[in-house]
Amino acid sequence: MLSVAVSKGRLSDSFADLLESAGYACPVLKEPTRKLVVESPGAGLRFILAKPSDVPTYVEYGAADLGVVGKDTLVEADRRVAELLDLQYGRCVMVVAVPKAAGVTAVTDLDFNSRVATKYPHIARTYFQNQGIQADIIPLHGSIELGPIIGLADAIVDITETGRTLVENGLESIATVMDSSSRLVANRVSYKMKYLEIQRLVNALEGVLADEDH
Ligand code: PRP
Repeated sequence: MLSVAVSKGRLSDSFADLLESAGYACPVLKEPTRKLVVESPGAGLRFILAKPSDVPTYVEYGAADLGVVGKDTLVEADRRVAELLDLQYGRCVMVVAVPKAAGVTAVTDLDFNSRVATKYPHIARTYFQNQGIQADIIPLHGSIELGPIIGLADAIVDITETGRTLVENGLESIATVMDSSSRLVANRVSYKMKYLEIQRLVNALEGVLADEDH
């Protein structure tokens, strides 16, 4: 049986749909439960229901053979895992955003040592370094858009999907940091030891994704 670390919610529902189309029906993944490990013996899959930011950790340490995680979270976690597949859902964009009223239209307009609130301190630090901009990165765990409203930060680095949260909080994007979507990742040892099982799943998922493209 292959173990897969996933985070419960909208994204695991999308993964369940994809698995079903690929011939690995796992209705258990959509059932409301407080259980943290659920199994789908027919599909040969065991799911570890984890916090999104912990998925790369479970996979790196081999507590899960596979993981499903957003590219944003994967890059931020900087864990040694093998990225196997872009699952093409959970699409979002990571942006730098500022209050509309600030009159800042590019990251180069930000003041020296501007404070930037984010759930992605590693990505944000690398981004500003690459741009040659000195910024003071302030790590937060959620509701990042609050930062500029209450005067904690001059800018934010966060993901947007519909853009609604930015608009409703008087913010606007001034730069794109990266695009993101859900990815299938594997523990490096599992990928060698369980190659056939994993590759069979990857091929089946790829077949569905290729169909959906056309
Ligand atoms: C994410 C993100 C934004 C929001 C963007 O937050 O951090 O706040 O979604 O979505 P939108 O562009 O469709 O409005 P999440 O719901 O994960 O909550 P959090 O900020 O508390 O982490």
